[in-house]
Amino acid sequence: MKDKNFLSVADLPSNSVAQLVDRAHNMKRDKGARPLAGKEFALLFEKPSLRTRVSFEVGIRQLGGTCTYLSQQDVGLGVREPEADIARVLDRWVDGIIARVFSHRSLELLAEYCNIPVVNALSDLEHPCQAMGDLLTIKEHKGSLSDLKVTFVGDGNNVAASLALACASVGANFTLASPEDYQLPTPVLEEAKRRAASKESKVDWVDDPSEAVQDADVIYTDTWVSMGQEDEKAERIAIFGDYKVDEELVQSAKPDFLFMHDMPAYRGQELSEGMIDHNNSVVFDQAENRMHAQKAILAAIYGD
Ligand code: NVA
Repeated sequence: MKDKNFLSVADLPSNSVAQLVDRAHNMKRDKGARPLAGKEFALLFEKPSLRTRVSFEVGIRQLGGTCTYLSQQDVGLGVREPEADIARVLDRWVDGIIARVFSHRSLELLAEYCNIPVVNALSDLEHPCQAMGDLLTIKEHKGSLSDLKVTFVGDGNNVAASLALACASVGANFTLASPEDYQLPTPVLEEAKRRAASKESKVDWVDDPSEAVQDADVIYTDTWVSMGQEDEKAERIAIFGDYKVDEELVQSAKPDFLFMHDMPAYRGQELSEGMIDHNNSVVFDQAENRMHAQKAILAAIYGD
């Protein structure tokens, strides 16, 4: 790790991304290591969670550590108490903070005010643990990561941002198909393009989903209405109407394409009823691999 925190995929040098995927692959097979023995973690979650919470709790226990779950009701991040105070208090008791927040700025403040590592368990800008689990899933099914065409259809959101950075770091080509006003944030796009250039791969945007999925190795989608955007729900459902991934859209992908979704999946919105159970769907492998990737991230922070 470049520094103590894992707030963004960009916190890892490009070559470390591929190494972390390999480490996760090895940890999935070899369950013996206990690099977190004696370590205690605070899981600070402002938003709901199934996969992230359980996969961190189980993964930490498997590595010998323990954790305390704190909901927004318990903590009141930035409301009941400022991030700076919460960080300095938790620093006295625990060895790391794993936080799911509305504003990425909250993560930066937590990291700034404590000496212990802070891991991003989803913010409005990124979902880096998801992206690492996704690369593991792609590698398991495709054998390698470089030269693949990964197409994300929908909102250029937190999941898309981390996936773009992760793909660019390992030499996979990344295409986002989104409405013009829902592209990746400029700093993410610039960093992803910089990483892609050094691997001779590409990061592209098109507004036409049919064009984007041509010959794709991976088709990925996510909700059109992320947590915190509930007020925009009706508007977003109207704007993203042409971006639904269904059996017809995926026909021009490679025959062995992977269908991916980080879940929760809203059938009838970003994907058709049948896509989760499509023959090419690997969504439950993705869910499982979140845990292996997160274990590798924590082992990289604490074990070396
Ligand atoms: N983009 C979604 C991901 C959920 C795991 C959200 O932020 O709500």
